[in-house]
Amino acid sequence: MSIVIRGGTVVTAEHSFSADVYCEAGKIVAIGENLEVPSSAEVIDAIGQYIMPGGIDPHTHMQLPFMGTVASEDFYTGTAAGLAGGNTSIIDFVIPAPQQPLMDAYRQWREWSEKSAADYGFHVAVTWWSEGVKEDMATLVKDHGINSFKHFMAYKNAIMADDEILVNSFEQCLKLGAMPTVHAENGELVFQLQKQLLAQGITGPEGHPLSRPPVVEGEAANRAIQIAQVMNVPIYIVHVSCKDSLDAISRARSQGQRVFGECLAGHLVIDESVYRSDDFEFAAAHVMSPPFRSKEHQDALWKGLQGGDLQTTATDHCCFCAPQKAAGKDDFTLIPNGTAGIEDRMAIIWDAGVNTGKLTMNEFVAVTSSNAAKIFNIYPQKGAITVGSDADIVVWDPKGTRTISAATHHQNIDFNIFEGREVTGIPTHTLSRGNLVYKEGDLRAVKGAGQYVKRKPFSPVIGALATQTALNQPTAVPRG
Ligand code: URP
Ligand code: ZN
Ligand code: ZN
Repeated sequence: MSIVIRGGTVVTAEHSFSADVYCEAGKIVAIGENLEVPSSAEVIDAIGQYIMPGGIDPHTHMQLPFMGTVASEDFYTGTAAGLAGGNTSIIDFVIPAPQQPLMDAYRQWREWSEKSAADYGFHVAVTWWSEGVKEDMATLVKDHGINSFKHFMAYKNAIMADDEILVNSFEQCLKLGAMPTVHAENGELVFQLQKQLLAQGITGPEGHPLSRPPVVEGEAANRAIQIAQVMNVPIYIVHVSCKDSLDAISRARSQGQRVFGECLAGHLVIDESVYRSDDFEFAAAHVMSPPFRSKEHQDALWKGLQGGDLQTTATDHCCFCAPQKAAGKDDFTLIPNGTAGIEDRMAIIWDAGVNTGKLTMNEFVAVTSSNAAKIFNIYPQKGAITVGSDADIVVWDPKGTRTISAATHHQNIDFNIFEGREVTGIPTHTLSRGNLVYKEGDLRAVKGAGQYVKRKPFSPVIGALATQTALNQPTAVPRG
């Protein structure tokens, strides 16, 4: 199958220019003005539109078994919804139960993900520690294309990683050339605050943000960053939601430490007032961790993106429907944590970022696609419009509008945290490895068409900790 996209403006993280883009056999094979292509090529008219790398959502949880239930969105429905929103790749998470071998969990997630409609990779969570875990980490990096490991500093009595696990795992990451990533919240503090709030009779969703104040996130981010500094390993902080953790990142980066930060579309535009609604279903639908924050924190996140201390945007797409959220009707600590967003991330960030002048179009591409590809070492296969790159492309109409709603979205969830928001700037066409999978409202996602994307490690350090390593200076990774 070959496709030529004609008459648009190519927008990459580096620059913008007028060109046609010709795709054949899943790859971009030619870029230039008035390209001559075989007459059999399908033509997409992109006049007045932008041709950008497909979005990469580096933080999703399809089909996640979590808090006594399973996320409603599976790998097919979730990636299909992502394609409708201009996303062509996800990096999801393998999350072993404590004591479960990492390889067992990895095989389980690989089986679940076979139905993906878009390309995908995995971060693997380190939820406990043993020699076996250490060996499995090495096997995953060397034989299975994993180059990042996740550590949940929250969720005590479940998947929380304590400092001992962090230190052991970070050391192994360094040796393997893998990137440690953390969910930064002090799990012990959250646990104690939850108990105090319940004892005071605060049982509704309004207790959720009270149990996870910004300082709880800031402490954990700072601790993880300091541990990474001692271990001399880079670190990536997922879903940075507040000034406190952003400040820890900025401080470390200003001192030359290799620290990366991700923020979520939801945290950029939704504030904590949602938890004070009298409508349990509405408030519970917003329960995610870290919680939505005040305007002051939102402003800080935008500045973090603008200044380069935050490099990526994600969704933490983790869907639970109203009946699932109802598990916490009488106790907010039992509400399954998670919200959706994969279909809307690109449009939300364009509308709230580019349309307001906070981000340039090129910065938009960087934070929605290219930086994730660089940090997780799949650039320029992904995240680029260059000859030889995968033909993962979104054609973007900057004047097109859409009113976001659960009634019309493709996500397998009964709620949309962006409900009623009108966005200007929408995808008109999405190409996944050269296949036209979304065309002007017509979603043509194919179950199982997504491919597993192996990610190579950064230069590994075998043996003792090095003082200065290639890993600490990855050429592919942006400094922001
Ligand atoms: O509330 C959230 N974020 N749920 C998914 C698991 C996680 O912490 O990322
Ligand atoms: Zn998390
Ligand atoms: Zn998550």
